[in-house]
Amino acid sequence: SMQYEHILVETRGRVGLVTLNRPAALNALNDRQMEELGHALLAFDGSDDVGCIVLTGSEKAFAAGADITEMAGLNYADVYKSDFITRNWEQIRRVRKPVIAAVAGYALGGGCELAMMCDFIIAADTARFGQPEIKLGIIPGAGGTQRLPRAISKSKAMDMCLTARMMDAEEAERAGLVSRIVPADRLLDEAFAAAEVIAAMSLPTVMMIKESVNRAYETTLGEGLLFERRLFHGTFATEDQKEGMQAFLEKRLPSFKGV
Ligand code: CAA
Repeated sequence: SMQYEHILVETRGRVGLVTLNRPAALNALNDRQMEELGHALLAFDGSDDVGCIVLTGSEKAFAAGADITEMAGLNYADVYKSDFITRNWEQIRRVRKPVIAAVAGYALGGGCELAMMCDFIIAADTARFGQPEIKLGIIPGAGGTQRLPRAISKSKAMDMCLTARMMDAEEAERAGLVSRIVPADRLLDEAFAAAEVIAAMSLPTVMMIKESVNRAYETTLGEGLLFERRLFHGTFATEDQKEGMQAFLEKRLPSFKGV
């Protein structure tokens, strides 16, 4: 196991929680922190005791971007050779269980991109999203130019990336970037409640839904529908499908075993 410096990790019931914890730097994401994050998420992913994961930051900032002090001195050869930013940021793409981003305060640059790497975003009413990289003379480097247009339309994505303006929680929900807005003091409770609902479902079914929805970003409608159909058929091979349907017919709650 790994000793964590910049994140906090705990489980509550079947929900794993990772808290970004460099509050003095508004969770500016450094290399070490992203390595820790990937490690913690993959550990939860591999644990039979966890059915859903919540990723959060502090009250003031989910994350104010990649760490500018760490980037300022880098040159082209440095970033090219180390495949800077995506190298240890893309670990999160390997996580097969759902990850909910619980965002309060700033989610800027890499912070907004990290939130978008999660499966959905629950925003506190204090949340502010933005891609201000252009002000630093760089472009978004962890998916901002790719995930934003898919999430909020080309027009809004261009506006955000080109002007560096921030979007508040209301606008983010209207645009489809976040799934819901909750009062800031309820953020973690609401994120946990959502995660508990998911964690009580059939785990293989949950994972298939994540895999199938993500497929929509990678393929044509015809191929995506075929992919979905095959996974759908696969659910009929689980005991959880028998249990879920039997419970409905018997007018009781299902008890899923994840098999
Ligand atoms: N990197 C390094 N340090 C950061 C940081 C960042 N991205 N964001 C904030 N900090 C640090 C500040 O330097 C400051 O440190 P000191 O107290 O040691 O001076 C501390 O966090 C608190 O920040 P501020 O004093 O600036 O707080 P504020 O409330 O006045 O402003 C803010 C908040 C508007 C978020 C402002 O901090 C800010 O604009 N931050 C930078 C945002 C940004 O440009 N993010 C994109 C980074 S590039 C990127 O992410 C690349 C990519 O695509 C992956």
